[in-house]
Amino acid sequence: MDLLNLPASVLCTLVGPPGSGKSTFAAHYPDSWRVCLDVYRRLATDSEADQSATPVAAEIQALLLDARLSRGLTTLVDSTNVFAHVRTSLIARARYWQRPAVAVLFDVPLPTVEAQNAGRDRVVPLHIVREHHQLLPDADQLQREGFTAVHPISELLATPGAPRR
Ligand code: CTP
Ligand code: MG
Repeated sequence: MDLLNLPASVLCTLVGPPGSGKSTFAAHYPDSWRVCLDVYRRLATDSEADQSATPVAAEIQALLLDARLSRGLTTLVDSTNVFAHVRTSLIARARYWQRPAVAVLFDVPLPTVEAQNAGRDRVVPLHIVREHHQLLPDADQLQREGFTAVHPISELLATPGAPRR
């Protein structure tokens, strides 16, 4: 079931710390819509956590973004995207292809994020979760950066009928 109606051609950037539920959200949409640095790091090194593969993963992601956005295909960026320069480059790509850029903000309280992170197979070190949570922008900041719409997950989950996970 769709949590959010994503129109054709939109670039949807998920913004949230590890464990906040980005991939769980993305799983509600067709798998081919999703670009994900973790997946490409794993394909390059057998480990999605191996940061030495981030440059090659970013290149693969950029190729796929261009391939999809040039065709007007809806695309979900399933990475933390908590650093402003990363979001700036995603917005620039959407603009280059004249596609709308929207963001889903995972404004999940830190204790919930920590609990979700602790309860899964791939546990990210706590200090990284906390650092990323602290870097989380607010909706106004994302709008100022150029996202045409910003959807806080807290509001999407509060919508009657929306799945809780
Ligand atoms: N989860 C949950 N309820 C939600 C969202 C997520 O219980 N509303 C659980 C998931 O089942 C998973 C864990 O929280 O076990 C982390 O969710 P995930 O989607 O993997 O988080 P990501 O943000 O994708 O984390 P990462 O950046 O590390 O990939
Ligand atoms: Mg994920």
